[in-house]
Amino acid sequence: MNKLIIVALLAACVFARFSTMQDQDIAAAFKKFTQTYNKKYSSEEHYNARLSIFKENLRRIELFNKNDEAQHGITQFADLTHEEFADMYLGYKPQLRNSQAKVSLSSTPFTAPTAIDWTTKGAVTPVKNQGSCGSCWAFSTTGSIEGQYVLQLKQNLTSFSEQQLVDCDTKEDQGCNGGLMDNAFTYLESAKLETESAYPYTAVDGSCKYNQSLGVVGVASFVDIEQGKTVADTENTMGVALDNIGPLSVAINANNLQFYAGGISNPLICNPNGLNHGVLIVGLGSENGKDFWKVKNSWGASWGEKGYFRIVRGKGKCGINRAVSYPVLA
Ligand SMILES: *[C@@H]1O[C@H](CO)[C@@H](O)[C@H](O)[C@H]1NC(C)=O
Ligand SMILES: *[C@@H]1O[C@H](CO)[C@@H](O)[C@H](O)[C@H]1NC(C)=O
Repeated sequence: MNKLIIVALLAACVFARFSTMQDQDIAAAFKKFTQTYNKKYSSEEHYNARLSIFKENLRRIELFNKNDEAQHGITQFADLTHEEFADMYLGYKPQLRNSQAKVSLSSTPFTAPTAIDWTTKGAVTPVKNQGSCGSCWAFSTTGSIEGQYVLQLKQNLTSFSEQQLVDCDTKEDQGCNGGLMDNAFTYLESAKLETESAYPYTAVDGSCKYNQSLGVVGVASFVDIEQGKTVADTENTMGVALDNIGPLSVAINANNLQFYAGGISNPLICNPNGLNHGVLIVGLGSENGKDFWKVKNSWGASWGEKGYFRIVRGKGKCGINRAVSYPVLA
């Protein structure tokens, strides 16, 4: 074989032949994967253990491709089991949600515009990388704050600190073990967020080094988008909010994203109650009759569509409509 197949694999193209691949071809594909993503394993035993997970993942990728309209392929996560992936790269903790009533945006009769993309309007910073730390919630939080800093406060686009949230917002949130965007907004009602450069990201839990005199932006309150009568109603309200307010912090079930490589995700199975990842809706549109959300992730710019993914809009897929919020800045 068949360098071609390997190349196709690594280009994360659509491929449907894993089930017929020989062991030696899988081993070669794995070797290439370790080079592409600069993976180092401490022993041959570890190498072989990862190889067998990789092999199992090839089967899972095939299944994802069968059950979804998006493309799935080898990503930097191809040597991890689903459980490892979830432990290290997800981290939205719905159980941390407190039951306090929050301001809600009533479902409106407005119709969302047919296309919005805040990334082309200077309201979204470049894609970041959370590393192997379940701090997605902190990235989702900074994402909507960065948007409002431009759109509400009319300031220049500025990257804000996730590490401050990881280290200091510890009353309910749990750093690399997970948290909630709404809790982070609450923390920022009594502290101000430093910039990314003042308080840089380390991808590990640390002691709080917040310096009040470096705090730039605080939160006055935040809005949770109310669930409408139907999923489509809620997602319409989300579209109106995206248009009028800016990027939105949302939670999703990210179980289908480990190997996402592009396209509009519309998985057959994705439990809307299984919220486990915090991300940022930055746009919406329609392609070949399929309505989608454009979503900023925090797994680096080489994952997915330059660090973003698209998911079908209006169907409540993966619970994208279940926990939507944005901050009102102080
Ligand atoms: C934005 O940046 C420009 C160029 O650096 C600067 O002239 C301007 O004052 C900045 N605006 C704000 C609101 O800080
Ligand atoms: C906090 O930041 C200010 C302004 O840069 C600096 O003068 C001060 O030394 C800092 N405080 C600490 C404890 O690092």
